[in-house]
Amino acid sequence: MVPGYPAAVTVDVEQVRTELIEFGSLSIQYDERVLRPRRWTTAQSAWASALLRTAPDGPVLELCAGVGHIGLLAMVGQDRPLVLVDSSDVACEHAAANVERASLPGPVDIRCGQMDDLIADEERFALIIADPPWVPSGETGEHVDDPLHAIDGGADGLDLVRTCLEIVGGHLADDGSAVLQLGGLDQVAAVSDHLTDHPELGLRLAEHRAYEDRGVLVLLVR
Ligand SMILES: C[S@@+](CC[C@H](N)C(=O)[O-])C[C@H]1O[C@@H](n2cnc3c(N)ncnc32)[C@H](O)[C@@H]1O
Repeated sequence: MVPGYPAAVTVDVEQVRTELIEFGSLSIQYDERVLRPRRWTTAQSAWASALLRTAPDGPVLELCAGVGHIGLLAMVGQDRPLVLVDSSDVACEHAAANVERASLPGPVDIRCGQMDDLIADEERFALIIADPPWVPSGETGEHVDDPLHAIDGGADGLDLVRTCLEIVGGHLADDGSAVLQLGGLDQVAAVSDHLTDHPELGLRLAEHRAYEDRGVLVLLVR
């Protein structure tokens, strides 16, 4: 120690490396604290983009957006406003950088927090994209590389899916549509039953598309 100077303090700074991945036509950044963008989910962007061709006027909402890639890719060439919602501060920071890089013609609003707190009563969306955690809690150990907050869907995997259904039911425009991601056909059946049991949501499951064992997309309409 040098006389007159305080002892040096060693601070452990966590080294987190930002990665870049091609996602469709976009370049998307993320790091190990969030879910790595999965290439098959460009299918969710593509379906959403196709639905936008006949969607009513109005903004687009993405729930559980993570670093924003699915919604951003869906909006390439669109000048509608996009709202991205996620509870992870880290994901929202990457989403902000990804918005800059995507240079979409329309405005993008990133809302960071619990999704059921962030949509005003009067807001209505022409299209809603949702990618909630859907792994049952007891099976999250099979996905050791994925952060728990991004995959843990509760006992039956559907806790956050039900929250998404509430939000879609409350905020989807009359002729709008929603594309929701699920884990498998058993969850498709469970969501269909849930909508039958909850007619107050005003939604029906119109179609589903399965992507082998990677996931399933469902189309929800009024
Ligand atoms: C399956 S990941 C999907 C992320 C991104 N769409 C992707 O494909 O990588 C689920 C996301 O939901 C977010 N999440 C979990 N609970 C949430 C909540 N209550 N409100 C908002 N976001 C939530 C997580 O932070 C995570 O980014």
